[in-house]
Amino acid sequence: PYFAAFNDFQKLEDEIKQTFDLQRVIITPGDSDRDHWVKDELGRRAVAFLQANLTKKQTIAVTGGTSMAAVAEVMQPTEKSTDCTFVPARGGLGERVENQANTICAEMANKMKGDYRLLYVPDPLSEETYRSIIEEPGVKETLHMIKQADLVMHGIGDALTMAERRKASSDVLTKLKSGKAISEAFGYYFDQRGQVVHKVRTVGMQLEDLSNIKTVVAVAGGESKAKAIESYLRQGKSTVLITDEGAAEALIKDF
Ligand code: G3H
Repeated sequence: PYFAAFNDFQKLEDEIKQTFDLQRVIITPGDSDRDHWVKDELGRRAVAFLQANLTKKQTIAVTGGTSMAAVAEVMQPTEKSTDCTFVPARGGLGERVENQANTICAEMANKMKGDYRLLYVPDPLSEETYRSIIEEPGVKETLHMIKQADLVMHGIGDALTMAERRKASSDVLTKLKSGKAISEAFGYYFDQRGQVVHKVRTVGMQLEDLSNIKTVVAVAGGESKAKAIESYLRQGKSTVLITDEGAAEALIKDF
């Protein structure tokens, strides 16, 4: 019955795929808002996707967050995807260390028996520091790898939840509220139509770089994130969505 449940989502997956012009949608049963095991399952589906799609010597850029941490937790090596390199998509973004892209990237690489590069940058950065830090040879090399990534995997957050979790200043909070920010991904905050309301100044992947990357996989679940997922998907930079039943049902109901 458990496996039958996976097939039951075919119609919902197709509906979301068409609505948001995605290449692939994967839905796992349950709602990660309610049950923690659903988030673990999201992680497993994301790892299965990577195992099916990665080949040798590829570069994978990853973001931070608890959903990506759930992916790292269950990461496993495969014969097909040896010698891969993991890079963090963006700098720290003010997350706790266990939820930072650097930590997740190193854990994924170790579990896949691959390699990794890290970005040691504080954030948010002043314009002046930003300009000089991107000229550092070590940072430059990692930035080059990030922009050439074969695959990007990232989380999507609710805008205000993320801003508070990352201890954004009161000025930023005011900007997000007045700009009606709904979602956050890669340190960018988006409104309902997918327009950028605010961007954290940190080094790494810029939104426009995503257009050059073949496979951009969003991993986000839970009914409470449906509006955020919709807002983020509106700007059309991701090609694959791995989500749960709770978010998927709410996403379609909203339309
Ligand atoms: O950028 C989005 C957030 O990293 C999502 O975080 O997976 O902990 O909700 P989360």
